[in-house]
Formats: sequence, C-alpha cells, structure tokens
Amino acid sequence: MASKIKKIAVFTSGGDSPGMNAAIRSVVRTCAYLNIECVGIYRGYQGMIEGDFKTLDARSVNNIINKGGTILKSARCDEFRTAQGRKKAYDQLTKEGIEAFVVIGGNGSFTGALLFTEEYDFPVIGIPGTIDNDILGSSFTIGFDTAINTVVDVIDKIRDTASSHNRLFFVEVMGRDVGHIALNAGVGAGAEEILIPEQNLGLERLLDSLKRSKASGKSSSIVIVAEGDKIGKNVFELKEYVEEHLPIYDVRVSVLGHMQRGGNPTCFDRVLASRMGVKAVESILEGKTNLMVGIRDTKLVLTPLAEAIKAHTEIDEELIRVSDIMTT
Ligand code: F6P
Repeated sequence: MASKIKKIAVFTSGGDSPGMNAAIRSVVRTCAYLNIECVGIYRGYQGMIEGDFKTLDARSVNNIINKGGTILKSARCDEFRTAQGRKKAYDQLTKEGIEAFVVIGGNGSFTGALLFTEEYDFPVIGIPGTIDNDILGSSFTIGFDTAINTVVDVIDKIRDTASSHNRLFFVEVMGRDVGHIALNAGVGAGAEEILIPEQNLGLERLLDSLKRSKASGKSSSIVIVAEGDKIGKNVFELKEYVEEHLPIYDVRVSVLGHMQRGGNPTCFDRVLASRMGVKAVESILEGKTNLMVGIRDTKLVLTPLAEAIKAHTEIDEELIRVSDIMTT
C-alpha cells in the first residue's frame, strides 16, 4: 500500500459512546502495523484548535478495548463552527505535520469534518460512533448495541418492581430525534407500548392500548418513550395525563439518562469498532477522503460524508409491526 501519508490523527467528538476506545485502539494499531505515525487529539475539535496532541503507539492503547467512554475525551465545540476556529485547527495540524485525520463521532462531528476538508482539501475519514444509531450509510453505529443492552437490562429490573406493585412505568430513553434505541430495546424488553418520534400514536391511542392491556389481564406495564417523541407530552406529563384519565393505574416514571452512554462495550460493538478502524486507516492510505465507514449486510462500505449527514436512518417498519403483534 504505497501512500505519501505518514502521519494520521484520530479523535472522538460529540457525545461519547461505548466502543469508541475500541475504535481508537484499532486506528492506532493499524497505523503501527503499517508504520504510520498516529497522533491522538484530545477533546475533539476543541483540542485540535488548541493543539492538544499526543503521539500514540501500539502500547498506548493497551487494555482499553473493554472500556466505556473515550480515553481521548470528547467535546462539542462551537468554535470549530466558525471559519476562524477551523483556520486555527488547520494551522495546528500542519504545524504538527498531521496529513489526515479519522474522526469518530456522529452527525455534528461529520458536518464539521466535511466543512474542514472542503476548505482545506484535507483527507478525512469518519467512523460512526453514537448510541443513537441515526447515521445514514451504516446499519449500526458504534455504541448502539451496548446502549440497547444496557436499556434492556435496566427495564428487566424495572419490570420486577412494576409487577410486584402492579404498576405502570413510563421509561424515557435517549436517541435524540430518532427512536431506534426505544424501538429495539422496547421489543427486546417486551414493552407494552413504544412511543417514538417516527410514529405519532396520539394520546387517545395510548389510553386505548393501556385499557386493552388491563382488560386482557396484564397487571403491570412498561411504556418506553423515546426522548424525541412527539406525542406532545414529556414522561412526567404523560404520568399525570394517564393518572387523570385512567385512575386504575398506579404510575411511575424512570428517566434513564446518561447511564445509557456508559459501560463496557458489547462484543458486537468491539468487533464493529475494530473492523471500522482498520478500514478507516486503509481507506486514507488508498487516497480516499470525505467518506464515512459504515456496515451494511455485514460488509463494510464507504459513504460520502455529505450523504451520511443528509438525513437520519429510517426506522425499521418491520420491527414496529413485530412490536405491535407482541403487545397483543
Ligand atoms: O447523541 C447521543 C446523545 O446521548 C443523545 O441520545 C442525547 O440526546 C444527547 O446525546 C445528550 O447530549 P449531552 O450529553 O450533551 O446532554
């Protein structure tokens, strides 16, 4: 693989996700394997602007494949949204002799990367790392599998107490504007109803469903609510609404929050991250740029960053149907 590029940087950006460390490790070790110098940038674009760099060799990433979070830290950086910020970042990269970078992050991180590469003709490859699984061009993002397993684990526990007290629980999960975490974890945990932004069921339908559930002999219920759901009420308002209209229910709320972003990555996320890191470095050395590594039908594929940031992945309609049937 003859390439002029001899120094590549890697960093994590935006919300962290379990498996980011496995992706960093993969990029670093692939560089070491191919005799390319690898530089870690701390705190995403903020660290790029400030020149917060550290050379990483194969041993710098020992014992991190199993760790949640990101050893390179992460940040959301407003300054990089400005032309001046990006100029400062470019100056730092060239001063350090960095000739290309791999960005591990989500939509916002890729938007920044695309602007940067268009302005400075700088080779860039993206690796999708976010628990939301919302990036076009990849069936899975790094961290999603771990997050849904975490959510299922917690809902199993909530179900224990819900059934002991014959209670209805509204459980709010993350996902930003999409319902992939809610739908997948909801089906996996056997939720009675799943409220996602892609499908506005309406309050009436929710009440009907809860009435049917009670009439069919269910004593407790779990309703998963995606944080971006558009039913018009948040989980606490939903609790009040249901208590007012269906007083037979004793309702509780659980907002899972940032615990969904933590924890040791699943084997699926570790393997995905390892594969994507290799592909990212190899793609740079093959002269490819402005692309994101994704996975489709178990194969790694490259999608232009401009495509990847255009829209969110669509919700799986078949899984919605399965969920409807399972709640009978
Ligand atoms: O994009 C990942 C995510 O965890 C979303 O699910 C959530 O809406 C958001 O980040 C929370 O961001 P922050 O950690 O900045 O509050």
